[in-house]
Amino acid sequence: MCSESTMLRRWLLALVARVGVIALVVCCCLSLLYLLACKPPSSYSHEQAQVWAGGATSKEGYLALLQESEDTHRHYINSLSKQIAQLKEALQMRTQQLQESLEKARAKGVLPMGLEGLRRPQTHTDLQEFFKAQLSRAEVQSGEKLPSEYAVIPFESFTLHRVYQLEMGLTRHPEERPVRKDRRDELTGTLEIALQVLNGPRRHGERRRRSYSPSDFIEGLTRTERDKGTVYELMFKGEGPQDFRQLVFFRPFGPVVRVKNERVDTRHMLINIIVPLSRRADTFRQFINNFRKVCIQQEGKTHLTVVYFGRDQIEEVKAIMDQTSRETQFRNFTLIQLNEEFSRGRGLEVGARAWRRSHNVLLFFCDVDIHFTLDFLTSCRLNAEPGKKVFYPVLFSQYNPSLIDNNQSPFPSIQQQLVIMKDAGFWRDFGFGMTCQYRSDFINIGGFDRNTKGWGLEDVHLYRKYLHSKLMVIRSPSRSLFHLWHEKQCADELQPDKYKMCMQTKAMSEASHGHLGELFFTQEIQEHLERQKLLNDSSHLR
Ligand SMILES: *[C@@H]1O[C@H](CO)[C@@H](O)[C@H](O)[C@H]1NC(C)=O
Ligand SMILES: *[C@@H]1O[C@H](CO)[C@@H](O)[C@H](O)[C@H]1NC(C)=O
Repeated sequence: MCSESTMLRRWLLALVARVGVIALVVCCCLSLLYLLACKPPSSYSHEQAQVWAGGATSKEGYLALLQESEDTHRHYINSLSKQIAQLKEALQMRTQQLQESLEKARAKGVLPMGLEGLRRPQTHTDLQEFFKAQLSRAEVQSGEKLPSEYAVIPFESFTLHRVYQLEMGLTRHPEERPVRKDRRDELTGTLEIALQVLNGPRRHGERRRRSYSPSDFIEGLTRTERDKGTVYELMFKGEGPQDFRQLVFFRPFGPVVRVKNERVDTRHMLINIIVPLSRRADTFRQFINNFRKVCIQQEGKTHLTVVYFGRDQIEEVKAIMDQTSRETQFRNFTLIQLNEEFSRGRGLEVGARAWRRSHNVLLFFCDVDIHFTLDFLTSCRLNAEPGKKVFYPVLFSQYNPSLIDNNQSPFPSIQQQLVIMKDAGFWRDFGFGMTCQYRSDFINIGGFDRNTKGWGLEDVHLYRKYLHSKLMVIRSPSRSLFHLWHEKQCADELQPDKYKMCMQTKAMSEASHGHLGELFFTQEIQEHLERQKLLNDSSHLR
C-alpha cells in the first residue's frame, strides 16, 4: 500500500511537472509569436512613442518622461559645471603667470604706473571697483579744472553713418564714414547697448513707451581720456517733437557702464540769442531771414537781443526787425543801442545783463554772419546746464564760395553752401565766440573782462575762466552751425606781427589746400593744358 501510494504520488508529481513544462513552452511560444506579430515597427518616432505610451498608461508614461528630461538636464548641468571649473582653473593659472611676470617686472623696477593694483589677485568686485574709480576720475559727471585751452579734449560727434572730427591733418576729412572696422564696431556696439536700455523693461512708475529704433538716434558725442576711458553721450528723439532722451555711457577700457538715462523736456528752455552788431545791415537781413525760418516758423521758444553800436544804419536794422515783427506776430525782440566804439565782449555783456525777467535763461552768443539750424538749438539746450555745463561748439567755416565752384556762376545760394566737406570749409577750432551758457553761470563767473580790447581775445578769456572752474566745458564740432564766408580785411594800422597773423587767417579761411594750390600753380596748369591741346591737334591732323 505504502509503495503503491508513493508510486502514485511520484506519478502525479511527474505529470504536474510535465504539464508545467509544456505550459511554459506554450506560453513562451505564444509570447514569442505575439512579439513577432505585434511589435511596433522600429521606425516609430520618439514623439509617436510618447503619445502611444501616454495613451496606454498616461500617468506612468508622463512620470517616465519627466524622469528622462530631468536626467538630460542633470547631465547638461554637470557638463557645464565641469567646463566652468576648467575655465576657472585656466584663469587662475593665467593670473598666477601674470602675477609672476608683474613681480619680475617690479623687481626690475619696470612696472608700468597704475598696474600696482593688479599685483593682488583680482576678483570680480575688485575690477568693478576699479571701473567705478575710473569713472569718478574721468570728466563725465562733473567738471574738472583745466589749466588752458590746450588741455581740453574735444569731443567728436557722430551720427548713424558719419563721424565729425576736428583732428584731420592734411589728408583726413571733416566728416567721414568711420573707415576702421574697430571704430565702426565700437560706435554701433554702444548704440546697440543704448537701444537695449531704451527698449528694456520699464522702470517702476514709468509711462508706457514706444519702442526705439536706430532711426531715432540724432547724434552722439564721444571722447577718450587716455588714462581713464571713453565717454559717450547719445541723444535720441523722445515722445514728442521737443522731447529727447539723453544717455551717457562710459567705457573704462572694459565693458560699457551706463551712467545716465534721462528724459529731457526742452519745451520750457527759452534761448536768448544775443548778437552784437555795428553797420552790416545787409548781413543782418540775411541773419533775420534765417532766424525767421528757424526760430519763428519752426521753433517758438526764442528771444533775439541785438546790441547795436553807433547810429550808422540803425534805422535800417530797426526797420528790418519791425517788419519781421509785423509779418510774423513775433514779439520777442530787444534792440539795445550803444553810442560806443564796437566791442563784441561789451555788446554780449550788455545783452546778457539786460534780461530782466525773473528766471534764468539760456544764452546763445552769436555773430551776425553765423548760420544755424533747428538742430543747433536742440544741441544748445542739451549741452548746457546751469551750474554744470557750458557748450562751446566748433563751427564749420565756409570757404569763399566763388573759389569752390571754380568761377561757376551764379554765386551758390546759402543752402548750397551749407555742406561739410574738405573743399567747402574747415572746423574753426581756434574760435570760442559762439557759445551756449546759462545767464546765471555767465554772471557768476564774472562775465567778460572789461580790460581786454579788440576782436577775439575776450572770448578766449571767458572760455579760460570756464576751464579753470568746476563747470564742464563741452567742446565738439557742430554740424548745424556755420560761419558764412565774407571778405576779411587786414587793416593797415595793425602791427607787423598782427598783420601777418591776420593774413594767415585770411588765407586759411579762403580756400582748401587743394584749391589754393590750383591758384598757386595756375601757370603750370595752363602750360600743361596748352601742350595737351597741341598734341591733340597734331594727332587730329595725322
Ligand atoms: C517769447 O518769450 C516768452 C518768454 O519771455 C516765451 O514764453 C515765448 O514762447 C516766446 N515766444 C516765441 C514765439 O518764441
Ligand atoms: C585731348 O583729347 C582728349 C580726347 O580725345 C580730350 O579728352 C581732352 O580734353 C583733349 N585735351 C585738350 C587740351 O583739348
